[in-house]
Amino acid sequence: MNLAIKTYQDYLSVYKYSTQEPENFWADVADTFSWKQKWSNVLEWNFKEPKIEWFKNAKFNITYNCLDRHLSENGDKIAYIWEPNNPSEEVRKLTYNQLHFQVCKFANVLKANGIKKGDRVCIYLPMIPEALIAMLACARVGAIHSVVFAGFSSQSISDRINDSQCSLVITADGSFRGDKKVELKKIVDEALPSCPSIKKCIVFNNRNFDINMLSGRDVFWHSEFAKVDELNEPEWMDAEDPLFILYTSGSTGKPKGVLHTCGGYMVMVGYSFQTVFNFEPQQIFWCTADVGWVTGHSYIVYGPLLNAATSIVFEGIPTFPDAGRFWDVIDKHQVNIFYTAPTAIRSLMAMGDEFLEEKNLSSLQVLGSVGEPINEEAWYWFHDKVGKEKCPIVDTWWQTETGATMMTPIAKLGIAKPGYAMYPMPGIQPILVNEKGEEILGNGVEGNLCIKFPWPSMSRSVYGDHNRFQQTYFSAYPNLYFTGDGCKRDEEGFYRITGRVDDVINVSGHRIGTGEVEDAINDHECVVESAVVAYPHDIKGQGIYAFIICDKLVDDVNQFKIEVNKIVSERIGAFSKLDKIQLVKALPKTRSGKIMRRILRKIAEGDISSIGDTSTLLDPSVVDKIKAGVVVF
Ligand code: WTA
Repeated sequence: MNLAIKTYQDYLSVYKYSTQEPENFWADVADTFSWKQKWSNVLEWNFKEPKIEWFKNAKFNITYNCLDRHLSENGDKIAYIWEPNNPSEEVRKLTYNQLHFQVCKFANVLKANGIKKGDRVCIYLPMIPEALIAMLACARVGAIHSVVFAGFSSQSISDRINDSQCSLVITADGSFRGDKKVELKKIVDEALPSCPSIKKCIVFNNRNFDINMLSGRDVFWHSEFAKVDELNEPEWMDAEDPLFILYTSGSTGKPKGVLHTCGGYMVMVGYSFQTVFNFEPQQIFWCTADVGWVTGHSYIVYGPLLNAATSIVFEGIPTFPDAGRFWDVIDKHQVNIFYTAPTAIRSLMAMGDEFLEEKNLSSLQVLGSVGEPINEEAWYWFHDKVGKEKCPIVDTWWQTETGATMMTPIAKLGIAKPGYAMYPMPGIQPILVNEKGEEILGNGVEGNLCIKFPWPSMSRSVYGDHNRFQQTYFSAYPNLYFTGDGCKRDEEGFYRITGRVDDVINVSGHRIGTGEVEDAINDHECVVESAVVAYPHDIKGQGIYAFIICDKLVDDVNQFKIEVNKIVSERIGAFSKLDKIQLVKALPKTRSGKIMRRILRKIAEGDISSIGDTSTLLDPSVVDKIKAGVVVF
């Protein structure tokens, strides 16, 4: 069947085919990629264990599909345009030939440093082309990359390295973000003494910072590069071999290593990039995410390369040297498709329209939003001021666990509503359920969002803990994947994501687990217990509000807050800092000892008149005391 989607009618017929014959649909999509050996079965699955296997026994390499197969026609086409943090520095451009050369060489460097198929490699790099080269080189030799966002602390790096027993870490001396110097190698040096599995550390000299190199462990990227040749036969992987681990937060303290495999991920990421954005070969694509998050994995690295696209890699931040930087970059490189986060849109909107006034922006054709719900005001600003009322906005809903976009308006179909993820991608079967797990039918309804049929790019496990995978995603509702999100289906049947219904907070598009933050707060010597919840924040979407019990008298709460935030930054990263704290004597708990966050959320939102039922609390009077003592720092 012809899978091209140019109209909403096309979408409806492709969608129908994709749900009536999902295996045929995905096999049709998979046929557009290059396989060394075809699969024996398209799909085997059950959501009970769960076991999900797509394209089993197929042999291929994702980097062959991202690079080698494009070389004859598109070898001289630009794959990446790297825009440096400082606009006065030189832009770097890499053609597909050059990128292929670099990846093959670095794959040989990895091999020379003992890396083989199945080994785990940690990548802690700034937004420079080497970050992408390192990821692709891992995929080429069959090593599993675990990229750790370069804003994470040394403690977070060592936790992640130890969890997946990485044997090699790739980093750089450091970089600049805005005018801030980030000394990555120093942070890695603090992490590695507690990481016995690490044998080697490859350091890319990015900025000539003064660094220490530990003899026997640390080697320079450049000198290793000089030792190897550029011929590299990719490792022929099974479709179900792991491709990468990406840590993400859940409701408990320890981040989960979300595991993705090669084949299904490639098929759906490549397909979704092309379909969602209506990508055409001559277009310039820019996704402003960091490769440390899943959006960077899927829509800076794999999705665009699988489609032989030209895309921008941006090292800087939206407000440096001023709040017009995004618009400057769009004009400078004539960007056609611009994919960013609501938090960035809101913060730039708050800076005023004067930063947009002198900009042309006529190259823009499609806009995209990802990572958190976008409020109507930001949506209209993006649509009217940035897109000049002529660019469709694709509000793409998906997750680290889903690997690729799940629900979104498809660009250019002309059907969208502000703040709505609208309709499922072909092949995706969402349903809404109530608290009891019963399907909510009809329109004009709201419930918890689940997916009832597997899709190729779904996570296969939590690395090293399949039981946790089962518990987190498949135990709340039997035979369904539970997303953790709440969702409305309006009168016309279109979907709107309303936000997390579990203990995950989304601050500026960063997923933060309440448990993680609480564990860090509790490390302060004065703290007995704490509970954190989200509250609405104009720019960040959600802010973090902590209720803290201390066993000592805290004289200076502002100073205390600074100390607690220092611990939070060291344990997790600066992006998890508390916005507000309130000291309390007790927390509202049920008789079984569970904190009732629903009540704390109401207080944090300032909505104390409608707290709701408190009868299941061990001591309902606690609520009045917290309400009476609302002094926020
Ligand atoms: C939220 C990011 C509303 C949602 C790709 C999800 C969104 C979580 C949207 C996953 C959107 C993502 N509209 N909410 N368009 N996109 N979310 O794993 O709560 O960092 O569960 O993946 O972000 O965040 P993650």
